[in-house]
Amino acid sequence: MTGRDGLLEALRAADAADADAVAALQRASFDDQWSMEAVTGLLSGPANLSLVAEAQGRLVGFLIGQCVVDTAEVLAVAVDPGARRAGWGGALLTGFERVARASGAERVILDVAADNAAALALYAGRGYQTVARRDRYYAIGRAHPVDALVMAKNLPI
Ligand SMILES: CC(C)(COP(=O)(O)OP(=O)(O)OC[C@H]1O[C@@H](n2cnc3c(N)ncnc32)[C@H](O)[C@@H]1OP(=O)(O)O)[C@@H](O)C(=O)NCCC(=O)NCCS
Repeated sequence: MTGRDGLLEALRAADAADADAVAALQRASFDDQWSMEAVTGLLSGPANLSLVAEAQGRLVGFLIGQCVVDTAEVLAVAVDPGARRAGWGGALLTGFERVARASGAERVILDVAADNAAALALYAGRGYQTVARRDRYYAIGRAHPVDALVMAKNLPI
C-alpha cells in the first residue's frame, strides 16, 4: 500500500457471503457481540450499504451501514486490532458517505459510546456533530452503563 489515498480502492460492497468474516471481526472489536444470523440479516437486507476493506486477500475492516430514504446510518465500523491507525476506519467512513450519497442519502447518522475516544475522534475529524444523547445506552459487557451520543453529518450535494 502506497499511502492512505489508496485505501478507498481496497473497499468493496459487502453482502451475505462476507457474514462469517465480518462476524469474526465484530466479535474481536465489540463487547456487544452479534450472532452470525444478525450479521447475515444486515448484510442481505434491502437497505444494506455495507463495505469491507481487504488487504492481501484478508478482511481488515468493515462498516455495516444502511440507507432508508434520505438518511444513511452507520450501525458498526471496525478495523482489525492489528491494522488500526493506518487510515482504514477513515477510508470506510468516506467510502460509506460516497455510496450513501449515490443512493440518495442527504445525511449520515450513527451512535457512539461516549467513552469511545478513538471513534469519537474519527467521527469528529470528519465533520460529525453530536445531535442527541441516549442515557445509559451501552450496558452489555460493562461494569457501568455508558451513554450513547447520536452524531450526524449532512452530505454535500
Ligand atoms: C474506531 C476505529 C474503527 C478506527 O479505525 P482506524 O482504522 O484505527 O482509524 P484511522 O486509522 O482511519 O484513524 C482516523 C482518525 O481517528 C482517530 N483515531 C483513531 N484511533 C484513535 C485512537 N486510538 N485514539 C485517538 N484517536 C484515534 C484519529 O483522529 C485518526 O486520525 P489520525 O490517524 O490521522 O490521527 C477502530 O479503533 C476500531 O475498530 N475500534 C473498535 C470498534 C469501534 O469502537 N468502532 C466504533 C464504534 S461503531
